[in-house]
Amino acid sequence: MSNYVTTPIYYVNGEAHIGHAYTTFIADTIARHSRLIGEETYFLTGTDEHGQKIEESALKNKKSTQEFADEISATFKNLWDEFDISYDQFIRTTDEEHKKGVQKAFEVMSAKGDIYKGDYEGHYCVSCETFFPETQLIDGEFCPDCGRTTSTVKEESYFFRLCDYEQKLLDYYEAHPDFILPKSRRNEVINFVKGGLHDLSVTRTSFTWGVKLPKSFNDDKHVMYVWLDALLNYITALGYGNDEKNMHLWPANIHFVGKDILRFHAIYWPAFLMSLDLPLPKHIGAHGWWTRDGEKMSKSKGNVIHPKEVADAYGLDNLRYFMMREVPFGQDGDFSQRAFIDRINSDLSNDLGNLLNRIIGMSGKYSDFHIDSKDVEKYHTKELSEMKTVLDSLDEYLDEIRMHRYLEELWKLFSIGNKAIEEHAPWVKMKEGKTDQALATVALIANILAKASLRLHGVMPQTTTTIAGALGIEMSTKHYTKLIKDDALLAPFVIQKVPPLFPRVEEPLIKEAPKAMLEAEKPKEKKEPVKEIVKNEDNLIGIDQFFETTLKIGLVVEAEEVAKSKKLLKLQVDIGEEKPRQVVAGIKEFYSAESLIGTQVCVVANLKPAKLMGMISEGMLLAAKDEEGLCLIRPEKPKKIGTKIS
Ligand code: MSP
Repeated sequence: MSNYVTTPIYYVNGEAHIGHAYTTFIADTIARHSRLIGEETYFLTGTDEHGQKIEESALKNKKSTQEFADEISATFKNLWDEFDISYDQFIRTTDEEHKKGVQKAFEVMSAKGDIYKGDYEGHYCVSCETFFPETQLIDGEFCPDCGRTTSTVKEESYFFRLCDYEQKLLDYYEAHPDFILPKSRRNEVINFVKGGLHDLSVTRTSFTWGVKLPKSFNDDKHVMYVWLDALLNYITALGYGNDEKNMHLWPANIHFVGKDILRFHAIYWPAFLMSLDLPLPKHIGAHGWWTRDGEKMSKSKGNVIHPKEVADAYGLDNLRYFMMREVPFGQDGDFSQRAFIDRINSDLSNDLGNLLNRIIGMSGKYSDFHIDSKDVEKYHTKELSEMKTVLDSLDEYLDEIRMHRYLEELWKLFSIGNKAIEEHAPWVKMKEGKTDQALATVALIANILAKASLRLHGVMPQTTTTIAGALGIEMSTKHYTKLIKDDALLAPFVIQKVPPLFPRVEEPLIKEAPKAMLEAEKPKEKKEPVKEIVKNEDNLIGIDQFFETTLKIGLVVEAEEVAKSKKLLKLQVDIGEEKPRQVVAGIKEFYSAESLIGTQVCVVANLKPAKLMGMISEGMLLAAKDEEGLCLIRPEKPKKIGTKIS
């Protein structure tokens, strides 16, 4: 089975923004996953370079249209290269082969009787490169899609008999309920078609920057309508009208598009393909729009988010993860640095990064970094079966491109892992001399991370490759087949140390954002600082003051006595961050270092680091001391590490 995946081809009238990056990331994710599972995969992206809009932009920039198109097209290509987008082909509609393919398609449609010459009088929106009937205009003048002024155009035009395809299209939607994804968008297309289609004007005489009609038409005045030209890129890229060398990849499995161009892909494009006697793509996946503070992004508003700037600040894989996890596919989403930071700290740093750190630490201590799955089945049947249930459920979400659900489900694997550590407490097992059991838990986690990485690879290619390296596997079809399809466990290996993968982020990293944007990004939970401590006679404080102290559940992972000190113990306390905090505590007289390892404590987590006997202390433990001595304050029963105490 082959999997041909495409992005829209981007207009070359401006540089890529976060919305373009989003479509490209999703398509790249699907392409990478498809390659990993061993399917023949072809991933196409590129630029849409003809039309009046580009001609006008070039003029404004005092460049020739070709020169202008070359420059902007290169900015897209360079950005995708910097982002390591795994496209197989970058098509430009100014490529000679593409133009030849478009002319060929025009001839085939014409031979079929679907093209005729007539007069067009209509309202044209240059920005959307679309004609609208009077009835659709806002206030009789403005474009219903972008709100800009339309101009009345009367010109000779060739038409495509779109009307003839009305019923065929409706029949097709009916027979293929998953043609349009998400399914919630299907009805809007069906209703549009049911509302009645008009024949489509597919050539223009009002400008020249476009594909000429085939020579056989002997008509130099006309160039092709940009949408006919652009949509055909999906087959000209495979050699249609030329050598046809990759036409075996047709039909595409999925065209990813934004919701604003769904109509072109779900109505015009299938009609063109029917006219060409070619099969239709299996799916059109329409995503929503990324907005900034609820508004459309635009240069004039100064609220455009540049993908490179965000990726440089927060990490490329983190950006990919955030965009796919945060917003359900098909819905609009607001881009907020605060939401992004929360995802990094909680999902990536706490859940995933921490799990890896913990097994590196434990295996280092218990087995000199050797990890062996031999006893995992014996001690962890429950976890293995829970894991399998999660892994088996994932394909369904991927097939429907419900990426946020896919990731949400996938993350359950990390909960299984964290829970297993809490329940089986390998450090206690080690103390009890049950080494096999402790090592089995560590190996269970290694297997969870390996399998999760294979299933996460499409979304986070670089990070999962690093994790795989640490676990002695490759992101390859061979290992995917073994560990996911055949459900095998990892062969014995020596785990490699890796630098922290997801450093926590405390403050927005892009500072030069407009002021309003930074305001919106202040931590939600942080209340206005209390300027004055207001105490009444009873010495009461407000709740805000209490919440200025961050208290968390921590796990003591290491503890040792501080040599020349009667009072101090040096502890490493895991509070759900990338690495444990070092806490130097004056409790030596009351607790032995040994007895603390593996126990839970309550940590004040937002104290300024302090130095005690030359050692940094990055937190404080809660304790109560009376005449009988000191005791640590602990949760009544074990809680997830990093849980906030309130
Ligand atoms: N050239 C046409 C596509 C032709 S495909 C045969 C086009 N180009 S575009 O550059 O304007 O838009 C490309 C894609 O970016 C579209 O899918 C569009 O929906 C998407 N986005 C543009 N702005 C966006 C956001 N703010 N958010 C998400 N995606 C958005 O249309």
